[in-house]
Amino acid sequence: MKILVIGSGGREHALVWKLAQSPRVTKLYCAPGNAGISQQATCVPIAVDDLTGLQKFAEDERIDLTVVGPEAPLALGIADLFRRNKLKVFGPTKNAARIESSKAFAKDLMIRQQIPTAESRTFESVSAAIQYLDSRPVPIVVKADGLAQGKGVVVAHTHEEAKEAVLNMLERHAFGEAGQRVIIEECIQGEEITLMAFADGKTVIPMLAAQDHKRVGDGDTGPNTGGMGAYAPAPLAIPALRYAIMREVLYPAIEGLARVGSPFFGVIYAGVMVKDGVPYVLEFNARFGDPETQVVLPLLKTDLVDVLEAVVEHRLEQLDIEWSEEAAVCVVMSSGGYPGKYPTGVPIAGLPDSISSDSVPVFHAGTAWKDDQIVTSGGRVLGVTAVSSNLAQARSKAYDTVQTINFDGQYYRNDIASRVLP
Ligand SMILES: Nc1ncnc2c1ncn2[C@@H]1O[C@H](COP(=O)(O)OP(=O)(O)O)[C@@H](O)[C@H]1O
Ligand SMILES: [Mg+2]
Repeated sequence: MKILVIGSGGREHALVWKLAQSPRVTKLYCAPGNAGISQQATCVPIAVDDLTGLQKFAEDERIDLTVVGPEAPLALGIADLFRRNKLKVFGPTKNAARIESSKAFAKDLMIRQQIPTAESRTFESVSAAIQYLDSRPVPIVVKADGLAQGKGVVVAHTHEEAKEAVLNMLERHAFGEAGQRVIIEECIQGEEITLMAFADGKTVIPMLAAQDHKRVGDGDTGPNTGGMGAYAPAPLAIPALRYAIMREVLYPAIEGLARVGSPFFGVIYAGVMVKDGVPYVLEFNARFGDPETQVVLPLLKTDLVDVLEAVVEHRLEQLDIEWSEEAAVCVVMSSGGYPGKYPTGVPIAGLPDSISSDSVPVFHAGTAWKDDQIVTSGGRVLGVTAVSSNLAQARSKAYDTVQTINFDGQYYRNDIASRVLP
C-alpha cells in the first residue's frame, strides 16, 4: 500500500514511524514532513492547506490511503474533497470536524447529548459578554470559538483579565474570524487527561489515556504551549474512568454527530478535566493529539494500517486493538524563547541515528535540512520518546537521551511525568 501522511510535526513523525513498521506498506510519503520524517518517508513540498495540490499528488501517485495529521486541512474540508474524488482518506469531514473548529458547535452538541462540561454561554456582542462576566465569579475561562493554534483560551483570575480577553477577541480581532464569537465558561479545577479514540461513525474504540504538559515551565508555570511533553498510560485513567469517558462522553458525541447528519470518521480526542471522578469535557479535537500521539502510538501493538483502514471502511466493530503493557514518556526539546520569539537554523548535535535503531526514535517536529546538517526550524524541535516497562524507567530513559542531544538555546522541562511519579 502507498500511504501519504499530511503534516510536519512530531505527531506526523510518530505516524510515519509507526506506519513504516507495517508489512502492508510499500511506499510512504509525507507532505511536507521534516528532517526526521525524511529518513523514513519521501517528503513532498506541498503545504497542508493546499488541498488541490494534495489531491493531485494523491491521484498522480495512486495513493491508497491519506492520513491527515493537523486540524487545519480537516476544517478546510480535505476529507470531503478526497472522498468526492474516490480517494481514501483517514479524517473527518468538514462538518464533523466542527467539534474542534467551533467550540460553540461542540458546546451545543454536548448540551444536546448531556455530556458533562463546564456551564457556558456564547457571545458575539462585547456588551452582553461583559455584562455576563460581571455576574460570574472568577476564575473564569474565555475561549475564542474557532481554531487559534492553542492560543485562544484564557483562564482569567480577575474580571479585568477576563474583560481584556473578550475585548482582544471581539473588538481587537486578535484571532481574526476565529474570535468573532467567544465562549465564557465556568473554570473547573481538577486533573486534566486526554482520551483519544478511533471512530468509524458508529463504533468507538479508545486508545490508552495520556497526559500532556501544556505550560512552558516546570511545575506547570508560564504560558501555554503546543505541549512540552506527555506520558501514557495515565495512571489517573483507571478502567472505571475510561469507561465513564466512553459512556458519558465519546459514545454520546459520536451518536450526536451521526444524528445531525455529520457522522465522524477518524480520531476523536476528548480533553477532559476530572473532578470528583466526573470527566468534564474541556474540548474535543478531530485528530490525533500532539504530543500525545508520540507516547500512545509506540504502545499500539496492532498494525496501524489495519486500524486506519477499518475506520475508513466503517468496520471497526470487527477489530480487536491490542496495546502493550509498557509505558512511554516524551520530553519535548524546544527553541529558547518558545512560545515567544525564537531563532531558527540552529544546528542540532548528537541526534541518534534513527535508521539504525529499532527502538523508538527521537521524533522530529521543527527540524529541517540545511546543507548536510539537521537544523532547528520551529519552536518545538524534538520529541524525545522512550518506552520501558514502567513510567519511571521510561522517564529516565527519555532524559538520558535528552542529555546526548545539544543545540544552542535548547530548552526542555525537567518534570515530565513527575506529577505521577515520586
Ligand atoms: N473550563 C475550564 N476550566 C479550567 N481550565 C480550562 C477550562 N477550559 C480550558 N481550560 C484550560 O485551558 C487549556 C486550553 O483549553 P482548550 O479548551 O483545550 O483549548 P485549546 O486546546 O484549543 O487551546 C486546557 O488544556 C485547560 O488547561
Ligand atoms: Mg486543548
